[in-house]
Amino acid sequence: MCGIVAYVGYRQASEVIIKGLKRLEYRGYDSTGIALVNGGLNVYKKKGKVSELETYLKGMDLNSHIGMGHTRWATHGEPNDENAHPHYSATRNLAIIHNGIIENYASLRKELTRKGHTFLSETDTEVFIHFIEDIYEKEKCSLDEAVRLALTKVVGAYAIVVMSFENPNMLIAARKGSPLVLGIGKGEFFMASDATPIIEYTNEVVYLNDQEIALVDNGKLTIKNVANLPLTPYIQTVDMELEALEKGGYDHFMLKEIFEQPRSILDCMRGRLDSASNRLILGGLREYIKKLVNADRIMIVACGTSWHAGLVAEYFFEEFCRIPTEVEYASEFRYRNPIIREGDVVIAISQSGETADTLAAIELAKSKGAIIFGVCNVVGSSIPRFTHAGTYTHAGPEIGVASTKAFTAQLTVLNMIALIVAHTKGTITEQKFHEMLVEMEHIPSKVERVLKQNDKIHLIAEEFKDVHNFLYLGRGYNFPVALEGALKLKEISYIHAEGYPAAEMKHGPIALIDNEMPVVFIATKDSSYEKVVSNIQEVKARKGRVIAVITEGDKLIPSMAEFVIEVPATHEALMPIVSVVPLQLLSYHMAVMRGCNVDQPRNLAKSVTVE
Ligand code: AGP
Ligand code: GLU
Repeated sequence: MCGIVAYVGYRQASEVIIKGLKRLEYRGYDSTGIALVNGGLNVYKKKGKVSELETYLKGMDLNSHIGMGHTRWATHGEPNDENAHPHYSATRNLAIIHNGIIENYASLRKELTRKGHTFLSETDTEVFIHFIEDIYEKEKCSLDEAVRLALTKVVGAYAIVVMSFENPNMLIAARKGSPLVLGIGKGEFFMASDATPIIEYTNEVVYLNDQEIALVDNGKLTIKNVANLPLTPYIQTVDMELEALEKGGYDHFMLKEIFEQPRSILDCMRGRLDSASNRLILGGLREYIKKLVNADRIMIVACGTSWHAGLVAEYFFEEFCRIPTEVEYASEFRYRNPIIREGDVVIAISQSGETADTLAAIELAKSKGAIIFGVCNVVGSSIPRFTHAGTYTHAGPEIGVASTKAFTAQLTVLNMIALIVAHTKGTITEQKFHEMLVEMEHIPSKVERVLKQNDKIHLIAEEFKDVHNFLYLGRGYNFPVALEGALKLKEISYIHAEGYPAAEMKHGPIALIDNEMPVVFIATKDSSYEKVVSNIQEVKARKGRVIAVITEGDKLIPSMAEFVIEVPATHEALMPIVSVVPLQLLSYHMAVMRGCNVDQPRNLAKSVTVE
């Protein structure tokens, strides 16, 4: 995990890099560094955020037209100045930035130490650059060849950029398992973990594939693979507005992204769903739709919030399509030798498209012959490039570490997939299909109505901001929403929260309830409404403090709950898209009131590209 950015061209490299690192900071932010060729090959690095590096660099002469920078999420060695990237080679003629993990670094380090190398950091990365230099000196080959030879010997995941003092117009990059995008401008080149640091200057990009090495030398780009086969760069145009990367007047990206949801959900359906003509088309699925329709089983793999979206999808794939569906944490799936049969379809859900566990899970499933579909947000990321077919969520860049608009877009896409499959399969009536399309078109305006309750939710947050524990309860389609509400709260406010199926409460968590325990019920009017009302009574009987998300016009629950948040009625399968929104706002406000860094919570990073 981490963000990397590099530049060579006619601009001041440090300016491009610092700006780029700020865009990538969502990927990691425990330490930052930059390397420039200004006099020598100079590295400047600091524990902390990009702004701290900026302060440190103030007043220094940073004149250089080549450079690279890194914002770290530590895997090997604590976040401190020494472990921050870039790292020098033994002679200090080379420097590296690295995203990922070199798994065999310990044996390489031992070997190099035996040869007299000393290391200044605890990182795997520093070993990597020493190793490259060792090969460079031994083989007396070109630097890119030394990098290639080193890559044939390292095990693990990486996106790297290497710079050299001897070749001040050269950048060498390579990837395996961690993303890397090359930007091609007029007389300048960019390299970055995603396209966000690049689009301000050029929208022509090349997505480097696994096992590929890019060499930019004196204004020329060449690409080869680790097996030394020359490749033709495939230049694509990225379609991203700069404005989408700014906060647009909101205090935090998370708040902006919560408020963007009416639009992002609409964008997700745009050109795909039209109830007037009874049309629902997902271009990316067309070729493989039969595989889904005939699937004996659907297995969904994902992590975190995307896993919660998968849990909701399990309900509607079973209800509408009548296909047995299992939802798995990708990190568990990949290590338990899962049984995959012909006729199984695997769906990977991922906002970033880069989550290492999800990627590994689908690699495993593909090797066992499964058809893989992807539901991803970041266009051109690793997962969609690996799957057989898939659908983008088109929610736009999500910068806040806590996922919000990506989740509601994932639910929208998964619903659309289920409806297409059910319609093709004949497991849903024409009338029901049409009703669902009409209802989906109303979802953006219903989410808009929920957002109007922001002030009320702010007041509820005020009331509970100092508590230490929270319970979130829901049933059926709203059970995964309870899990998601709890995850949002813990990750950004550091309040301990648990999500449970409401009926499970009496099998354990009920023991926690006393007059200080807030319990959030997602209690909208659906097939389990009455049962949830009984669960509310059970909490009340033990003096728990009830906050309930209810359907507009519900008269019963307001007489029982201390606080209610009303959401518009919709079909129960679509309710999670609506009912999760107040929970996003509740956790946002509590986190802000507690002084937490909402967009960059401690210990977390946006995309977890390491195991
Ligand atoms: C969500 O708020 C989290 N920060 C996290 O759980 C996230 O959903 C998870 O890491 C999966 O990421 P992905 O969707 O990019 O694969
Ligand atoms: N493994 C490297 C380190 O710990 C890189 C981690 C990252 O991707 O930020 O420094």
